[in-house]
Amino acid sequence: MPMQRELLKILADGRTHSGTEIGQRIGVSRTAVWKSMQTLQRTLDIEIYAVRGRGYRLGGVVELLDAAAIRAAMTPAASKALTRLELLLCIDSTNRYLMEHLDTQDGFAVLAERQTAGRGRRGRVWVSPFGGNIYLSLLWRFQSGPSDLAGLGLAVAVAIARCLQQNGVTDIGLKWPNDILWQGKKLCGVLLELRGESAGPCKVVVGLGMNVRMAQTVGEGIDQPWVDLETILGCPVSRNTLVGQLLSELIETMKVFQAQGLSPFLDAWRELDRYHHQAVELHLPDRTIRGIACGVDKHGALIVEHEGVRKSYFAGEISLKPDKSQTKSAAKDMWQ
Ligand code: BTN
Repeated sequence: MPMQRELLKILADGRTHSGTEIGQRIGVSRTAVWKSMQTLQRTLDIEIYAVRGRGYRLGGVVELLDAAAIRAAMTPAASKALTRLELLLCIDSTNRYLMEHLDTQDGFAVLAERQTAGRGRRGRVWVSPFGGNIYLSLLWRFQSGPSDLAGLGLAVAVAIARCLQQNGVTDIGLKWPNDILWQGKKLCGVLLELRGESAGPCKVVVGLGMNVRMAQTVGEGIDQPWVDLETILGCPVSRNTLVGQLLSELIETMKVFQAQGLSPFLDAWRELDRYHHQAVELHLPDRTIRGIACGVDKHGALIVEHEGVRKSYFAGEISLKPDKSQTKSAAKDMWQ
């Protein structure tokens, strides 16, 4: 992998580089350069354009992930708490990787340029092409058991929303428990994976996938409306700066949640709740609940009103009821 990273660094400026130049810079023959280009194409599932007599180039400029640039964008306190930062070119899933490193010290973050089997919520695949998006996992240890961490995903969603707002993104909405939407389209997803004793302690891997720059063609297979950050902002986004800011917010969130639980985040979550008072369907493994979304309780569970009765749910996938014109009162007429 080090050789591939070296090649990529040279090509990242988007310009054409001859095999001779590349070979000299990294100290290998032109044939070795050619072979490594083939491997790199396969590893990252990208096109490297080979122009006869001139050399190699990528389809455009790529800002590769860079540890120094990420740390430079972090607050000093967060940078101190980030005990280890690993940047990978390609992995199946950064969450899977961290789940196999649970014995490592707290504050271990892993990012990848590409994931081949990115994990989404409810067994979905997270589409993770090379070079434009953020695939980030952070390992944190809590003294409490899993039941006290039920609201952590909501706190994480608030942290991400704050970070986006600080970067000028308006119109952010949250979909329970932790989807970050822009004008109803998915911009960022969060997957928490936990392991621990019921009485604690508990290790948590916080996985965050954010669409920053993604070609329409690559995202064609995604089964819901989605958007990327560069489309929203209409300008290039520095992934390294954004990752640094996200890590700072996430680490601060872990500390606050550890000390005070969900309560400091509840008002912010409720303010961003996109489904509040909407007619929704909550899909559980064995049935679908239809009702009105009534926000979240103090533990982070979703409250759904059905036939005049309010119940809290900790699991499930929420969607707007297919007829989106339903208002609260219209929906009440139907179901109560
Ligand atoms: C969702 O379905 O909304 C959650 C998506 C989470 C994707 C991120 S990308 C980094 C981390 N590694 C994974 O395999 N998944 C999470």
